Amino acid sequence: MEVSPFQIENMERYKLLIGSVVPRPIALVSTLSSEGEPNLAPFSFFTVAAYNPMILVFFPLRYKKGLEFKDTVLNIRETAEFVINIVTEDIAEAVNTCSGLYEKGANEFVISGLTAEKSRIVKPFRVRESPIQFECRLHKMITISEEPGGSDAIFGEVIHMHIKDELITEHKIDVKKLKPVAKLAGPEWSTIGEVFNLDRPKVG
Ligand SMILES: Cc1cc2nc3c(=O)[nH]c(=O)nc-3n(C[C@H](O)[C@H](O)[C@H](O)COP(=O)(O)O)c2cc1C
Repeated sequence: MEVSPFQIENMERYKLLIGSVVPRPIALVSTLSSEGEPNLAPFSFFTVAAYNPMILVFFPLRYKKGLEFKDTVLNIRETAEFVINIVTEDIAEAVNTCSGLYEKGANEFVISGLTAEKSRIVKPFRVRESPIQFECRLHKMITISEEPGGSDAIFGEVIHMHIKDELITEHKIDVKKLKPVAKLAGPEWSTIGEVFNLDRPKVG
């Protein structure tokens, strides 16, 4: 099949992308509004951008007309701080409940039953049940497109990390202990599956 992105509908573009770029790790992003209301939402358009400085990036979509910014974006624009919590098997269902289209001000910590724990440096809470939590300060926000299906790239500099001691084996995070989950297309999620090693080619 040959596909021109210029000759298909937005929904078709969305389905092709989210079905092809899999599995996607999930950032559970905790923010606070300027009035101090907590917000929690998952984002699977999420990855590492750099490690010096340590930068993570995620992309809230502008997927509906009239819904210019998701609450997460509004809050980060107001406060420039957030916490990215890594999503694991134990909390997948609770995290999913945070993705409902609740009105601004709704507290997804209460809705999901996840526990709000004070952060070390930033004001937004971290999620106690998540074994890795990154306290972030907004590094840069870049609008990809304001059209439905466009997004804002939110780059955060990690300024503090919380990592459960039990996850560490020989100074590394042990993925078998972490048990992360990832997003596929539609309602599908996945666990880590089989892990195999490949040595990088030695050239020169
Ligand atoms: C696992 C998962 C991953 C998601 N990834 C994204 C994403 O990358 N970008 C996005 O805009 N919405 C994503 N969503 C939907 C948002 O979580 C949802 O729109 C949420 O209500 C936004 O919350 P907020 O308005 O409080 O910021 C995802 C939902 C789930 C369940």
